[in-house]
Amino acid sequence: MKTLIAANWKMHGNLGWAQKPAEFRRLFAQSNDNVEILLCPPAHMLEPMVNASKGLDIYIGAQNCHDQISGAYTGELSAVMVAETGAQYVILGHSERRAMFGDTDKWVAAKTSAVQKVGLKPIICVGERRADRVAGQAEEVVGAQLSGSIPPKADGKNLVIAYEPVWAIGTGLTPTIEDIATIHDHIRSCLTKRFGVRIADKIQILYGGSVKPENAEEILALGDVAGALIGGAGLDMKSLAAIAAAAGE
Ligand code: 13P
Repeated sequence: MKTLIAANWKMHGNLGWAQKPAEFRRLFAQSNDNVEILLCPPAHMLEPMVNASKGLDIYIGAQNCHDQISGAYTGELSAVMVAETGAQYVILGHSERRAMFGDTDKWVAAKTSAVQKVGLKPIICVGERRADRVAGQAEEVVGAQLSGSIPPKADGKNLVIAYEPVWAIGTGLTPTIEDIATIHDHIRSCLTKRFGVRIADKIQILYGGSVKPENAEEILALGDVAGALIGGAGLDMKSLAAIAAAAGE
């Protein structure tokens, strides 16, 4: 399975950042076929970033979209519109969206269907809050989010899952390596129950939450961690290149 190194730029950057794909490639040459790079900029940068990434073997993705194709949804972007920019991925159900913008499991499932229908690849984010972990309910919470956020009719194909513990995002804190392994195992077994081992084994499960060059190698070495979803460290191409290099180790 390929390792996916994905940077979620959140609401950072400007059109000048379209030079970052080339900068990244100067720092991390296209020598490793096993590492895929994905940059997820704010919506207004999608098309320029797609153009700037041509020939560089870098995927571009959106950070969210609406579940409807079009309509009176002021401020929203549909999956069709994302596809029109040439982007290939959409992050869905990020904890910031769940906490601040009303994304529920059910809505994430509807968005996922819309994304898959237009041939884009969804990255569904799940993760427990600190209180859930303290209460010993991390697996239960992640399992419930997973089952509610994957559409009822999904076949398990064309799907990426990202485990992002809410308390690890932007805090510099990470779960222990054992805890990451435990949750990734749990996610894999939920997927296996639902889709069967043959399909479940092909689903990439990423880890996200304070991934940086210093901890990337240890996290990415875990058997069931097929990549990383990176916030802060993904804004800087030097850090991102170091993380990508760690993935290739
Ligand atoms: P940080 O890497 O800044 O913790 O953010 C993780 C994240 O939210 C990626 O989606």
